[in-house]
Amino acid sequence: MDPQELLEKLLARTGLGELHIATLRKLEAVMGPLASEVALAFYDYLGRDPEMREILWAVPGRVERLYGSFARWYRELFSGCYDVSYSAQRIRIGLIHAAVGVKPSFIMPAMGIVQELSLEHMRDSLRGSELLAGMEALQKILAIDLALLQEGYNAAMEEGFRMGMGVSQREALAAGARVLLERAQ
Ligand code: HEM
Repeated sequence: MDPQELLEKLLARTGLGELHIATLRKLEAVMGPLASEVALAFYDYLGRDPEMREILWAVPGRVERLYGSFARWYRELFSGCYDVSYSAQRIRIGLIHAAVGVKPSFIMPAMGIVQELSLEHMRDSLRGSELLAGMEALQKILAIDLALLQEGYNAAMEEGFRMGMGVSQREALAAGARVLLERAQ
């Protein structure tokens, strides 16, 4: 699906409106500086799972690179700028995961961890109505990000099967993702 069209649908479906966007932008001051800390805790969690650990350590320097990419991704959650390039970039991240063999089923629990780590920090820094508004806005943007990542997986799968490039779901995903990433360059 077109990234702009999908983004519009997701904004409507999650109800992420101007007030939530303003809240997220305000949260940047509190959450942005914690991005590297959240990245460390996130990969610490992923690394405890043998299957994920194997993927993470399969390429030298990968985890170190991921600390930086994840922290950037995390800060952008609070940018307040959710436009077509945000949408396309998040779909591309889904494609990258499909291409390197991260199973779609790993993504949902991982996003749950992002939420948990973020809520811990928000609980320590915000109070009362500010905390509730922050939680609501965060949940909405994470739901949007999750759906955009999934869109990358869906596109990869469709492309893989369309091109007859896999006998299994796993092969179709990885092959379809590689083709789409090459095409986008
Ligand atoms: C909420 C879920 C996740 C988020 C937000 C996330 C975020 C990211 C980002 C921002 C990138 C960099 C993409 C780029 O190069 O532009 C990336 C790549 C990657 N992620 Fe994730 N990730 C998630 C889940 C996972 C899980 C569950 C695994 C399991 C092992 C994983 C493994 C990887 C790997 C292997 C790469 C490619 C690294 C490379 O070689 O460059 N990610 N991820």
